[in-house]
Amino acid sequence: MFTNPKQWADRTEGTRSFYEYYAGFSRLFVRNAMEQIGVGSAATILDPWNGAGTTTEAGVAAGLSVRGYDINPAMVLVAKARLLTNTVLGSVEPICSDILLKAKKTIKIIDREPLETWLSPSTAVAVRAIETSIQRLLVDSKKYCPIANFPTLAGVSSLAAFYYTALFKTLRQLLAPLRGSNPTWFKQRGAMPRLQAPVGTIHNIFRREVCLLLSSLDAGVTANQRIEATLDISSSTTLSLSDKSVDAVIASPPYCTRLDYAVATMPELALIGVDDVAFRGLRNSMIGSPTVVTGALDDSTNWGLACSQFLENVRAHPSKASAGYYLKVFISYFWKMNHSLSELARVMIPSAPMVLVVQDSYYKDVHNDLAAILSEIAVNRGFTLIHRDDFVVGTSLRSINTRSRSYRRSCSVVESVLLFRRRASLL
Ligand SMILES: C[S@@+](CC[C@H](N)C(=O)[O-])C[C@H]1O[C@@H](n2cnc3c(N)ncnc32)[C@H](O)[C@@H]1O
Repeated sequence: MFTNPKQWADRTEGTRSFYEYYAGFSRLFVRNAMEQIGVGSAATILDPWNGAGTTTEAGVAAGLSVRGYDINPAMVLVAKARLLTNTVLGSVEPICSDILLKAKKTIKIIDREPLETWLSPSTAVAVRAIETSIQRLLVDSKKYCPIANFPTLAGVSSLAAFYYTALFKTLRQLLAPLRGSNPTWFKQRGAMPRLQAPVGTIHNIFRREVCLLLSSLDAGVTANQRIEATLDISSSTTLSLSDKSVDAVIASPPYCTRLDYAVATMPELALIGVDDVAFRGLRNSMIGSPTVVTGALDDSTNWGLACSQFLENVRAHPSKASAGYYLKVFISYFWKMNHSLSELARVMIPSAPMVLVVQDSYYKDVHNDLAAILSEIAVNRGFTLIHRDDFVVGTSLRSINTRSRSYRRSCSVVESVLLFRRRASLL
């Protein structure tokens, strides 16, 4: 029924992928999912974990109203950038020249500049000058304030977000020598001397990234003159949407593999001025984060049998910290997912479809069948499971015995596409 969600499985995607995001699914998958669930032309479609904005882009291209939220402000900017219409396309290159002209005359020194984690002070100043100049020209001409301090991104246009995204890509180009084998990590200060690049080189990379981004916009979106879209920062546990206002959900919840989405987007977060305190706060509120928040997390029995069994297996595992740190990480994940699914049931109209893409994993030798666990939680929160498709998407190494002379065995990773419908009445 559904196509494989992975970006590599989309042969039509090629080089047109808008933003390299470790956890993103493909445009083709969302288009196919919309067809399969038959969303009407006046429908409102939601992705509460919008990431790089694949769902909201495909929704707009199909002429739908879209709502897209993510707790990570940097990813909200990327998702917004994808919604540029052809009314402004002709202005993109002249405005780019203006941004760089203004940047040449700008020196913005930030206290404890986060970009200096990787860049030399003069290189950080050159990148910050472009950022300041984008903000002065396209967000607020009077006063500079780091985007990270904005409570909402409602006032940031797709055009401004487009240049922010081009600058994210510029920064990633500059940081390429610091990339390790783990795709979500960059080496930190101390591991290498900080990177140095001449201002002219930085400007040239920025210009090139603007052109590349322009060429990777979706033609369906750019042709659409009347976009009805709300994209903003929000946690999926508390959505600012009215009851029964959403006709369909297509989304991929955060992985349950301790993939650290905050660390994976550290350069983007540094660019928008996220300081250490805000970074820790973001990490703690993210679903799937490896940080453990102390406080009352109810290890509730109404998360279903599959979840209880998995948590029990983790608790009973003989390896170090299984019953302590790791158990808390998993409880925190399911607690946040339970609250998010309640919230989705609240905002969806009765019988509305919800498509979720989830990936299984292993904790040591304990199988985390996330599709089964989340299906049970969703059923308990007011959904009926209609259909499940499984795709083998690769192999992972799983640790069988971590105590001594550990050995590892590879096993397949399965990504599941789950189709639910919101029940007519909630319990
Ligand atoms: C699997 S990714 C979604 C990828 C997206 N489908 C795409 O194509 O780019 C999950 C997203 O959930 C976000 N996230 C994590 N915790 C969240 C929370 N509490 N509320 C909202 N979003 C959250 C992460 O920042 C991440 O972008």
